[in-house]
Amino acid sequence: MIETRDVRKNFGALEVLKGVSLRLEKGEIAAIIGPSGSGKSTFLRCLNHLETIDRGRIDIEGENLVATDQAGACRYVRESEVRRICARMGMVFQHFNLFPHMTVLENVIEAPITVKGMRRADILPKAEALLNKVGLWDKRDSYPSHVSGGQKQRAAIARALAMEPDIMLFDEPTSALDPELTGEVLRTMRQLADERMTMLVVTHEMAFAREVANTVVFMDQGEIIESKPAVEFFKNPEHRRTRAFLESML
Ligand SMILES: Nc1ncnc2c1ncn2[C@@H]1O[C@H](COP(=O)(O)OP(=O)(O)OP(=O)(O)O)[C@@H](O)[C@H]1O
Ligand SMILES: [Mg+2]
Repeated sequence: MIETRDVRKNFGALEVLKGVSLRLEKGEIAAIIGPSGSGKSTFLRCLNHLETIDRGRIDIEGENLVATDQAGACRYVRESEVRRICARMGMVFQHFNLFPHMTVLENVIEAPITVKGMRRADILPKAEALLNKVGLWDKRDSYPSHVSGGQKQRAAIARALAMEPDIMLFDEPTSALDPELTGEVLRTMRQLADERMTMLVVTHEMAFAREVANTVVFMDQGEIIESKPAVEFFKNPEHRRTRAFLESML
């Protein structure tokens, strides 16, 4: 599903990813946790080409996105292929990134119409089903500024799902929300998990990581320090840095 090998990324002199190798199987849910600045968002953004990598290899569903040859030259597949491969992944951001001048419904149908060339009449029933699923059909004609943070985030999830992705990437989807709104977004994500959506979730929600994720990945300073089945991870964190992080989260 997703396989990365020795992914490296620098911002100028700053080494942000120092060789990240990760494998995510179909239907698997992995939570990435780690301190601020450890490279979690950058890693997620590299997967769907919002950032380019400097070295290493990324395969999405068995298709190569980028590879590095023996001489160390890092090459992406051609632009149209990059777009096609990355369209298999939907992304949900901490700050929702909804279009403010569009209603909730328009936000959901925009990409299927402009990117996939779907007809409005064809995407509408699907949009209705998705908005019902995330509990927002009654808010379809509201603008993002007129709905709560939790509703914005559920709209953002519906918008990503409207493109029928095989994989969903979440970057701290609840950390901009008040605690009372976090639950409704986590419930929507749990529902996706129950439907066996493949998910990679950067999160600070330890309960979510423990209960919903199959695998927990701990990143620190641009590296994966520890990666294990969720139950095992919390019961028996091996690395000193993992233990220190988990203690700081209590
Ligand atoms: N576009 C950029 N240009 C320069 N440096 C960047 C850029 N984006 C991120 N960085 C730096 O890369 C490092 C990793 O950032 P990243 O956002 O991936 O961390 P993170 O683990 O997601 O942190 P947080 O938990 O705070 O979201 C940080 O030191 C950050 O300042
Ligand atoms: Mg981040």
